[in-house]
Amino acid sequence: MNRWIFPALLLALAACSPQTELTDPVARGERDFNGLGCVKCHQIGDKGHAWGPDLTMLGFRKSEAWIDQWLKDPHAWNPKTVMPNFNLKDAARADLVAYLSAQKGQSWAVKPWTTAEAAALPAAERGKIIFNSVGCVSCHAKDGYGGYPNNNVAGGLVNSLTKVTEGYSKAELHAKIKGGAIPIPSDSSKPLPMLQMPKWGDQLNEKEIDAVVEYLYTLAPKGAPGAKPSKDDF
Ligand code: HEC
Ligand code: HEC
Repeated sequence: MNRWIFPALLLALAACSPQTELTDPVARGERDFNGLGCVKCHQIGDKGHAWGPDLTMLGFRKSEAWIDQWLKDPHAWNPKTVMPNFNLKDAARADLVAYLSAQKGQSWAVKPWTTAEAAALPAAERGKIIFNSVGCVSCHAKDGYGGYPNNNVAGGLVNSLTKVTEGYSKAELHAKIKGGAIPIPSDSSKPLPMLQMPKWGDQLNEKEIDAVVEYLYTLAPKGAPGAKPSKDDF
């Protein structure tokens, strides 16, 4: 190849590139979220695919510090995760963290549990949609089995919810979900637990919390003695 053609081609390509410089980290993060293919597995609002957790409310349930750590190396937090490590540069990761932390549910035109179809369902089934959409599932796992890692808590895992009927009346469960809880660290000399039970009363109304309570109550039979979750469940 003529030694000038290659650089000339590169220049031409650079000139055609539609990358206008975005000054807002949130906008850059959104561009990269779409460009890197995160949307193949994740949904934000009505866009993307719900193969992995729905991220529409990620910024409410997870801290910036946790999101940053997760994107840096998902397997360091959860060795079993199927989420790939994208080996992101620090600047690109910071933009994604800015975009994802800003996701507090505003991207839903219609919340998935308030559609006409969902409204006609029994409360427990509507509660299941809430559980999965707002992301209880991202900490307590599918059907509340628990098992996702958390640092510095007894057992090193977020607790299972399959036996809450044994410890809580419906009213107590409602209050717990509404008010949230900071887990008690198992070792005071180590960093505080990064996953905390959010104060859902800031995001869900009384009826929505009641529906979630009804759903959690349906989980109890699966936690019956001897019934162990399979490893494929999370
Ligand atoms: C191949 C599918 C896949 C791709 C692609 C993918 N993820 Fe994930 N991601 C997952 C799965 C699955 C989980 C849930 C963790 C688990 O159970 O393994 C997850 C978890 C997450 C979480 C934590 C979710 C929560 O609710 O706490 C964040 C944040 C996240 N991914 C961001 C991203 C970003 C940003 C990208 C693109 C750079 C991306 N993911 C690409 C599959 C994927
Ligand atoms: C960011 C992670 C996270 C998310 C998201 C989350 N939780 Fe929790 N949840 C926790 C942690 C950690 C605890 C343990 C708190 C403690 O030690 O008291 C907990 C505790 C609970 C408990 C008390 C269980 C018990 O055995 O005492 C209930 C009930 C519960 N969560 C329900 C929910 C529901 C319903 C949602 C969604 C609306 C939800 N959680 C979302 C982390 C989370």
